[in-house]
Amino acid sequence: MFNIETIRKDFSILSRKVHGKPLVYLDNGATSQTPIQVIDAIVDYYSNYNANIHRGVHTLSQEATDKYEEARHKIQAHFNAKHAHEIIMTSGTTESINLVAHGFASLLKKDDEIIVSALEHHSNIVPWQMLCEKTGAKLRVIPMNETGELVMEEFDKLVSNKTKLVFVNHISNALGTINPIEDIIEKAHQVNAAVLVDGAQACPHLKPDVQALDIDFYVASAHKMCGPTGVGMLYGKEEWLNKLPPYQGGGEMIAEVSFEKTTYANLPHKFEAGTPNICGGIAFGAAIDYLNAIGFDEISTYEHDLLDYATKKLLEIEGLKIYGTSKNKTSVISFNLDGIHPYDVGTILDKMGIAVRTGHHCAQPIMNFYKIPGTVRASFAFYNTKEEIDILVEGVKKAKMMLS
Ligand code: ALA
Repeated sequence: MFNIETIRKDFSILSRKVHGKPLVYLDNGATSQTPIQVIDAIVDYYSNYNANIHRGVHTLSQEATDKYEEARHKIQAHFNAKHAHEIIMTSGTTESINLVAHGFASLLKKDDEIIVSALEHHSNIVPWQMLCEKTGAKLRVIPMNETGELVMEEFDKLVSNKTKLVFVNHISNALGTINPIEDIIEKAHQVNAAVLVDGAQACPHLKPDVQALDIDFYVASAHKMCGPTGVGMLYGKEEWLNKLPPYQGGGEMIAEVSFEKTTYANLPHKFEAGTPNICGGIAFGAAIDYLNAIGFDEISTYEHDLLDYATKKLLEIEGLKIYGTSKNKTSVISFNLDGIHPYDVGTILDKMGIAVRTGHHCAQPIMNFYKIPGTVRASFAFYNTKEEIDILVEGVKKAKMMLS
């Protein structure tokens, strides 16, 4: 049973005050809050079995290794990867993307093509531009339309035998649009191109099945899924991960080292040089347990209700425009008040205890498309309430009055 009161008790931060007002935390797209169950896992690690992993014969090291590998198995099960070694632990989505981009440098030739979407975050644009500079490959872009959806007819025209990699986010961080990744994967695979899906914004809201979707690479960050910052994952199909060279050299990613020649460790260790974020990885596992105990069907139903309610209420404010109006979207609302800079709205909302993100959301091409400097973005999680949305709506009305 989804019980909002019980859930909110897991997040002590939600009962703090900001500027003397109860916190209304609506910046979940930037980072989610952390429930006590995940905080307990962090405290337990440092209080009871802090040690380096995969290296020691002593008890603490064995315990930490077991817990860390258990977390990898939780992530594997959550995403339904075929093998645990297809899960590479990283510092987050950005590192996961860079790992794949680095690896593709050895697979691409001049005039090969990479397709990205117009809805991407900068971390999904810049690594591919760098890769194109290095290899002479060309970057192609699937355009977007006014509702904030990808123009799939244009994608059909872009895909060709030159396409080697297609990169798309599962859900747009700036607009909340859920992209048609099934269609993209099917068409990319017809020309043998690999598909990398950025799930950073999707994983807090839904549970992707990487085998059912036949995804080649999927990436996500723990901190958007009730876990800590500085840890994330890369799922890669075994055959693709075997094709890619290591990302970083260092300890634990080798089989044997001599000054003449080094051979690399098997998956997943080939991509995990150096001491990882051990505690973070274990806490990521705890966050996945937490979300699954609530249930993604329940989370999705509840959040859609919040989205519909907030959309309706905000649109009652004259001069308010929502960007990203796809029917297929998640609980993110990007908006502006006519003639008012989003930064000013965000600052006034903060004074009322309301946390939203303002600016270009690291997605300048989207802002350029709409010819705006940025938006105010309210992004809801399963622990938000309609009462908080009412406070947001009143806050926006007040900001409008003060700034008009
Ligand atoms: N990518 C994160 C966001 O959308 C930080 O806010």
